[in-house]
Amino acid sequence: MANKIKELLQSGTVGTHVEIKGWIRTKRVSKQVVFLSINDGSCQGNLQAVIDPSQISEELLTELGTGASIAISGNLVTSQGQAQSIELQATELTLLGSAPDYPIQPKAHSLEFLREWSHLRFRTNTFGAVFRIRHAVSYAIHNFFHQRGFFYLHTPIITAADAEGAGEMFRVTNLDLLNLPKNPDGSVNYKEDFFKTSTNLTVSGQLAAEAAAMGLGSVYTFGPTFRAENSNTARHLAEFWMVEPEVAFNELQDNITLAEDFLKFLLEYVLKNCQEELTYLQQRSLHKTDTKQQMPLLERLNFVLEQPFARVSYTEAIAILMDAPPNKNGTFAYPITHWGIDLQSEHERYLVEHHFKKPVVVINYPREIKAFYMRQNDDGNTVAAMDVLFPGVGEIIGGSQREERMDYLIEAMQRINVPLEDLNWYLDTRRFGTIPHSGFGLGFERLILFVTGMENIRDVIPFPRTPGHVAC
Ligand code: 4AD
Ligand code: MG
Repeated sequence: MANKIKELLQSGTVGTHVEIKGWIRTKRVSKQVVFLSINDGSCQGNLQAVIDPSQISEELLTELGTGASIAISGNLVTSQGQAQSIELQATELTLLGSAPDYPIQPKAHSLEFLREWSHLRFRTNTFGAVFRIRHAVSYAIHNFFHQRGFFYLHTPIITAADAEGAGEMFRVTNLDLLNLPKNPDGSVNYKEDFFKTSTNLTVSGQLAAEAAAMGLGSVYTFGPTFRAENSNTARHLAEFWMVEPEVAFNELQDNITLAEDFLKFLLEYVLKNCQEELTYLQQRSLHKTDTKQQMPLLERLNFVLEQPFARVSYTEAIAILMDAPPNKNGTFAYPITHWGIDLQSEHERYLVEHHFKKPVVVINYPREIKAFYMRQNDDGNTVAAMDVLFPGVGEIIGGSQREERMDYLIEAMQRINVPLEDLNWYLDTRRFGTIPHSGFGLGFERLILFVTGMENIRDVIPFPRTPGHVAC
C-alpha cells in the first residue's frame, strides 16, 4: 500500500524508499528537472516529487498536468528548496489517469465557480480543509456524547409525522403521479400508497428521540433532515444534517449548559486537531477585503471558547432591539415593532455581534412563534425555548424543555391543528410515566460555517441541495 503524504510530511525519514499515490496540483519544468507537487487528500500539504526529465518520454511529460493521477516511488531526500523540508526523488512513475482540459487550474477560482464543479472541488486546498474539518467535528460529536453516556439513536428518515408542525416537508410516495388514486371528494387516496398513509422526509428526529430518551435516559441523533422551505439564503439547505440530543429529567437551564459545553468541546477539539486546515482557511479569508473588520478565524474560535455565553430572555432581547440604532434609523429590513414578532437573522446578528459581542442564548419565546411541543411557562404567553445565536451565523441551535403535561400538550396541538391520532404514539409517552425532559437541535452545517469561516452553507456540505438545485 502506498504511503500517506500526511505521515511522510510529519515523520518521513530521509533516506527511506516510499511510494505515494495522488493527484498533481502543479508542475514546474526546466531542462534538468521536473517538479510535481502531489496531494493525496490526507492533509493540507503537498509532497514535492523531483523527476529527471531524461527518464521519461516527451509525451508522458505533457500528460503529467494538473489534475492527473499518478503513483510515484523513490527516496525521501532533504529538499534544496525553501518551501519544504523533504521531497521525493522519483525512481519510478506511473500515470494512472491523465486530465486534459482539467477545469480547476492552479489559480484562484471563485467559490461560485467551484460550486459548478462540486464533484471535483474536493481536490482543492479550500475544500480539502473544509471536508477534513467536517469529518473532525463529526468525530468529536460522537466522542462528546459517548464520554457522557449518551446513546446514538438512528431515527427514521421517512415519517408520517410533522415534527415541527410547520408543514415544510417533502412527500415520499410511490404512487403514479400521472394516475393518482382519488377519494370520492377528489383528494388523493393515500390508503393506496406504499405505507397506506401519506408520508414525508423527516424535518427532525426529535419526536422519536424523545420516546427513546424516556427509556434510555440520554440519547442523540445525528442524521440528515429535509426542509422544503423556499429559502435561498447563505444559511439554508433543503437537505442538511442535524445533531439532536434529548435528555430525560433535564430542565431548560440544564439544556443550555449542555449546549454550551457541547459547542465548546467541539471548538476545542478542532482547534487542537485541525491546526493546518484552520491556518490555511484563516490565510485565505485574510486576503478578502470584505472580512477585514472581523477577527481572524483562529482568534474568533478562541474568543468564543473563552467567553461564557450571554443568556437573555426573548422579552429582554426585544427591548434591546427596539432601542437599537438600526431599529431607530430604519436600517433593519424587518423593524422591531412589538413584543411577539419572530427574530430575523439581522436581529440575531445584532444581538451577538454588536450588543453582547459573544454567543447569546435567547430563552422563553412567545408560544405563538414556537413549536407545539415546547413547555408552556407559568405566564401562559411564553414557552421554555432556547435558541443559541452565533457570530456570523445567527441561530445555530434551537431547542427547548418539552411539554410533559398531557393536557397542555393536547391543547397546544389542537391550537395548530396537529391531528391527535397522527401523534397518538407520541402522546403515549406522556400517558405512561411522563417526565420533564429537554433537548435541542444543532444545525451541523451552520456549525461548520462558523468553524471554517466559510460564508455560504453550500460550501460546507459535499453536494448541496437548495431550491432549484440538485447537481450530482
Ligand atoms: O430550530 P429547528 O427548526 O429545531 C428543530 O428542528 C428541533 N426539532 C430541534 C430539537 O429540539 N431537537 O432546527 C434546529 C437547527 C437550527 O437552529 C439551525 O441551526 C438548523 O437546525 N437549521 C438549518 N440548517 C440549514 N438549513 C436549514 N434549512 C435549516 N433549518 C434549520
Ligand atoms: Mg429554530
